[in-house]
Amino acid sequence: MTESEKHLQAMLTPSREQLVRLVERFQGEIQRGLAGEVSSIAMHPSFVSRPSGGETGRFVALDLGGSNVRVTIVEPDGRGSAAVTRQESFRLTATSGDARDLFDPVADFIGDVIEADGSHKLGFIFSFPVQHESVRSGRLEKWTKEFAFTGVEGMDVVRLLEEAITSKSNESPALKTLSVSALANDTVSTLAWGAYLDPRCDMGLIVATGMNMAAAVSRDLIAKPLPPTIGNPDEMLFNMECGNFDGVELIHTPLDTRLVSESGTRGQLLEKMISGRYLGELVRLAVVHLESRGDAFSGWTASGSAFGLEFGITAEHISDIVHDESPELVGVGMLLRRLGIAACITDERRLLKNACQLIANRSARLVAMGIAATALFMDPELGSEHVVAVDGSLFRGCPGYQTEVRTGLRELLGESRSDRVLVTYLRDASGVGAAIIAAVAAG
Ligand code: GLC
Repeated sequence: MTESEKHLQAMLTPSREQLVRLVERFQGEIQRGLAGEVSSIAMHPSFVSRPSGGETGRFVALDLGGSNVRVTIVEPDGRGSAAVTRQESFRLTATSGDARDLFDPVADFIGDVIEADGSHKLGFIFSFPVQHESVRSGRLEKWTKEFAFTGVEGMDVVRLLEEAITSKSNESPALKTLSVSALANDTVSTLAWGAYLDPRCDMGLIVATGMNMAAAVSRDLIAKPLPPTIGNPDEMLFNMECGNFDGVELIHTPLDTRLVSESGTRGQLLEKMISGRYLGELVRLAVVHLESRGDAFSGWTASGSAFGLEFGITAEHISDIVHDESPELVGVGMLLRRLGIAACITDERRLLKNACQLIANRSARLVAMGIAATALFMDPELGSEHVVAVDGSLFRGCPGYQTEVRTGLRELLGESRSDRVLVTYLRDASGVGAAIIAAVAAG
């Protein structure tokens, strides 16, 4: 291992002891969140329980949680499966502007996807921190993932969507057939889809542009009275908003501190070490760091290179770099040329790949920390089996990521206890789960 590799490894590899301390703090924050005390893990109630598995119907799912907005038509059959009869997506051209710049194009798009016949019940997946007032209303607490539309924070996002739908319904009569049945976070809908398939599922996890978890918490574990739940009255699905967990300051490196100061999103300290919106920037900051020490990457951050631009490197670049197994890292060289680095030596390509791997591994071990803490909170002895339903591009697409999460769980829980926590990727879970939540809400 070269000196630079050793330096990066020491900086970016938290010890097991540090992770164990984080597991303890994370559990404390869940407890405080549930008790309604100040906590960096908010634990927002969703007003629904897990589905029974018998839910049926035809629903439109709107997934709004990143630049890629999706509309899916889903028909759960009540027997462990759901048909996806249509799925369309479009990319938002901006992540800032005013409320209409966000909701008008979304309403237009839904109008293009649905037909003007019958009636359509919508499950609205809005993947940001929302304080629910009922299963079909809730106020945006704050933007995350570098979104910055004005006039949305503090507002009921269902109303904003409905207003846009109404204002567009003359141009697009299909919109007149639409009514919002439920609002939910993507982690909650992912959990719901997981539980529809397997009743042992009691956690939902997203590792994509953002990172967050949901948990099905039994009422016995909650100190304060909660509003009634639709479905099973003895439990509530909580959107944890644990991407905001601030205990990780304990293991912040200079790269994390710099990223936090660059970001336009408040808090979200755990998310900023884990999710796809931020990992590329951490890799870029590692390059900046080694270049400024005079260790490697000389000239890489000059103007014209993606390494000289904040957020110029993305999680997709990381996946491509880690994917390249060729001895000379030819693919990495080709990618680097596209990113504005005309010439580099093999050792630099290796060091870059090493930085990507260390940053992705740290992300995966922190995901394991969150899962371990949540599972232990709900079942301290891990006497039962727990399934974690996962959706998200980073979890699915980053080479070696899932293995590293499992290794992290074994490291924290031990061999036999970690066998009782099953982490499973479910494609499109967030969208399909929206239909399940809408069906639960429809009663
Ligand atoms: C961010 C959002 C959260 C969402 C997550 C994954 O953390 O605040 O609501 O679940 O991203 O999309």
